Amino acid sequence: MRSIKVLTVCLGNICRSPAAQGILESMSFSRKGLDLTLDSAGTAAYHIGSAPDLRSIQELKGRSIDISQQKARQVKQDDFEHFDWILAMDGSNYQNLLNIAPIHYQDKIVLFGQLPGRPELGSVKDPYYDDALFPRMADHLTELSVNFLDFLEEPQNK
Ligand code: 4NP
Repeated sequence: MRSIKVLTVCLGNICRSPAAQGILESMSFSRKGLDLTLDSAGTAAYHIGSAPDLRSIQELKGRSIDISQQKARQVKQDDFEHFDWILAMDGSNYQNLLNIAPIHYQDKIVLFGQLPGRPELGSVKDPYYDDALFPRMADHLTELSVNFLDFLEEPQNK
């Protein structure tokens, strides 16, 4: 079975995309037909080397997912060649990725909540300035992750 390489991307790589990585990792174990390799990155350089935001760590810990060992990094040019799918959390992340990606890799970049041929499930709101958004972020990422794994299991996307 070929490993499908997936990169989750947000702005800072400390709140949303590390959580998305952790949730996808934890869910992919139950999908026997899928072998996923995951990583996450930010379009900005602000938090390079930092652990995920404590609020994301705590929210996921409450859901039995440990993301505390992740380290933030910035998206790099190699990512566009290496990964099969690059999942942007919101429209601004999506546009930032398109602005720096080589033209022949742009099809790999999709909005996590707007996958081709799937229902529209919306952008993942940036929770950085609002503590109350973290539980909602985790619920939304869980919904988007189920949808993405279903998408990968469609015969035309294998
Ligand atoms: P993230 O959230 O993109 O989900 O990691 C943010 C983290 C940091 C900042 C903004 C959003 N910041 O402005 O430092």
